[in-house]
Parts: sequence; C-alpha cells; structure tokens
Amino acid sequence: MRAARRGIYTFLAVFFVISLADAAGNVERGKALFNDPKLSGSKTGFSCGYCHRNGRGLEEAIDKKEWKLMGKKYYKIEDAINIFIEKAMHGRPLAPNSQEMLDLIAYISSLHRD
Ligand code: HEC
Repeated sequence: MRAARRGIYTFLAVFFVISLADAAGNVERGKALFNDPKLSGSKTGFSCGYCHRNGRGLEEAIDKKEWKLMGKKYYKIEDAINIFIEKAMHGRPLAPNSQEMLDLIAYISSLHRD
C-alpha cells in the first residue's frame, strides 16, 4: 500500500515537472520550429534559421526591452517574432501564449551568451 502511494506521488511529481518544463517552452521543439520553412503556414521557403543560421544574430535578442525592426519599434519579443513570421515568411502570427511561441522563445533564450 505504501509502495503504491509512493509510486503515485513519484508519478505526480514527474508529471508536474514535465508540465512545468513544457509551460516554459521546449528548446528542442523551438529549434525545430525555428528551422521549419512552413512555420505557421509560412510560404516564402525561408525559415528563421535561413537568415539566422544556428540562431546567429539573436544572442542578445532576449535581453532587449525594445526592438527596432523594419523602421518600427516593438516592445515584446512575441511581436518581434511575429513580424518576421508575417513579413519575411508570409505566415500567420502566433498567439503570444501558444505552445509554438513559448518553444521559439525558449530556443531564442538558449542562444543567449553572457
Ligand atoms: C529574410 C531573412 C530573415 C528571416 C527569414 C528572419 N529574420 Fe530575424 N532578422 C533578420 C535581420 C536582417 C535582422 C536584423 C534587423 C535589424 O537590425 O533591423 C533580424 C532581427 C531579428 C530579431 C531582433 C534581434 C535583436 O537582437 O534585436 C529577432 C528577435 C528575430 N530577427 C527573430 C526572427 C525569428 C524568430 C524569425 C523566424 C520567425 C526570423 N527572425 C526570421 C532577418 C531575418
């Protein structure tokens, strides 16, 4: 009986940790999305990784408070990401709280260098 209960607690703990990790976004999935030319219905044949090979140029991106892109200012990383999906890739913008957006942000965060 005790062993069974411990098993259940262990299962719940593992499940909890996995769901937390997921809620924060998954780096590997984000990397795959970053290199996917069909990301969110994109049609130009470019992926993020086509221009940012291995994430190049985004090492500082996550630290910024504003991004000046194509002559306009953006104040959220989600908006900066969506502007590329829309303008460079002709895809549909991602909802800021979507799993894909969280995964992309997790990948971009992982590129950060001190
Ligand atoms: C057609 C080439 C191209 C594609 C495709 C592209 N980018 Fe970029 N990206 C750029 C260029 C060029 C800059 C620098 C713009 C500038 O400084 O005005 C940039 C800048 C950025 C920045 C700001 C970096 C900083 O430190 O300020 C982010 C964030 C970014 N891109 C994310 C993405 C994401 C995510 C994707 C895919 C959804 C993507 N980009 C697709 C060319 C591209």
